Amino acid sequence: MPTKASKRTARVKPGQREEETLRVLISHKRIRERVRQMAQDIRRDFPNEPMHLVGVLKGSVLFLADLARELGGEVSFDFISVSSYGKGMDSTGEVKMNKDLDVSIEGRSVLVVEDILDTGLTLKYLLRLFEERKPKHLRVAVLLDKVERRIADVKADYTGFVIPNEFVVGYGLDYDERYRNLPDVCVVRLGPRGKTKIEA
Ligand code: IMP
Repeated sequence: MPTKASKRTARVKPGQREEETLRVLISHKRIRERVRQMAQDIRRDFPNEPMHLVGVLKGSVLFLADLARELGGEVSFDFISVSSYGKGMDSTGEVKMNKDLDVSIEGRSVLVVEDILDTGLTLKYLLRLFEERKPKHLRVAVLLDKVERRIADVKADYTGFVIPNEFVVGYGLDYDERYRNLPDVCVVRLGPRGKTKIEA
């Protein structure tokens, strides 16, 4: 029989701090199933096309790794790093490039792979940048979409889950670089009363 103390410990996620609470929003099982469906949708649209996946560092890494394996066929990948967020949960509203792609996307069928669409400013910046480079196709796959928060007029072609306006971590997403390794997507809440900053 587990003791009360061991039950409590079992609920604590790896890397979790005392002042933070985590609630599973989307389990790894649901993520796995949805990623498989998304890959099928993408392959239905591009059955024989070599797909060049462009992952937006760092949040998309786990999603891209799973999606690439589900896609099958000819797949290559590259990564770009941009930042729109400072430390913590608040956006600066500005997008800046930290690392560009390694190879040209001209004439390729490009699938931009993003962890989450929030204001949409990052994706807008990326789409403008990539369109100028003349890819054959340019499509977007996002795992999570916080539709309510949108500022920029952008949409993904393939969306995993529409989620409420909560700050989420796990499956690649971080809070101050932590929690990226959680298998589930979780809502993180701060402070003794468990109120998220984003709701304040
Ligand atoms: P956007 O430019 O506002 O759409 O923000 C996109 C980026 O903000 C994502 O790629 C994430 O890195 C980050 N972001 C937005 N919402 C969250 C969240 O709930 N958790 C973790 N990162 C987030």
